Amino acid sequence: MLIDVFTLFPEHFDWFLRQRHVSNALSSGSEIRFRNYRDTTPLSAGQVDDAPYGGGAGMVMRVDVVDAALEAAYGGAREEVRKLALAPSGRLFDEELAAELAREQHFALLCGRYEGFDERVVEHLADEAISIGRYVLAGGELPAMVIADAVLRKLPGALGDADSAIEESFSAALEGAPEYPHYSRPPSYRGWEVPEVLLSGNHARVREWRLAQARRRAE
Ligand SMILES: C[S@@+](CC[C@H](N)C(=O)[O-])C[C@H]1O[C@@H](n2cnc3c(N)ncnc32)[C@H](O)[C@@H]1O
Repeated sequence: MLIDVFTLFPEHFDWFLRQRHVSNALSSGSEIRFRNYRDTTPLSAGQVDDAPYGGGAGMVMRVDVVDAALEAAYGGAREEVRKLALAPSGRLFDEELAAELAREQHFALLCGRYEGFDERVVEHLADEAISIGRYVLAGGELPAMVIADAVLRKLPGALGDADSAIEESFSAALEGAPEYPHYSRPPSYRGWEVPEVLLSGNHARVREWRLAQARRRAE
């Protein structure tokens, strides 16, 4: 898998790239490339933004700047790459979309800054706008990391134990429900007991209990 991240701040991803499951995914054949809008802007002095028509606070990421970045990255082949513009108002990112993206060979995440993108980026340059939640962050870098994290951990080789990603919250194995609760030693702590069924050694009962708990959490 190849993920292209378009951003003004590629250095923000340094920490992300050092995370174990991410570096595992990268050493198992996946790649993340960074494209800085400033490196390809057609404007002078590295300009990437401009004042909004109609007035108002803040600056807007210019459409010609984003277009130039995509042109430099893909030339005439840009239609072959799924391009996701990050925006608070976009389609909500969820496990289903993470699984969908995990099946892509190549996709691009466009990080906005300031007041966000000129709307023509979303309408004409990107394939869709994606939001990680109904709140506003300062930039698209954290959303890009959230999306890349959720997608990369689904790829073979990313997790120490591949089974972790098969039965977890919102997976088909749990009928799309949130995961059941986990417990570990000690079996009793300050009077807080681990459910008896988990100590029973009866795998069929444990399985039944876990599914019932997951279903209850989905209600
Ligand atoms: C300060 S935000 C722009 C907010 C915009 N003026 C609004 O009110 O919707 C700057 C950039 O951060 C990113 N961003 C912020 N919150 C986000 C979210 N919840 N999901 C996805 N991207 C987000 C987007 O790329 C956005 O262009």
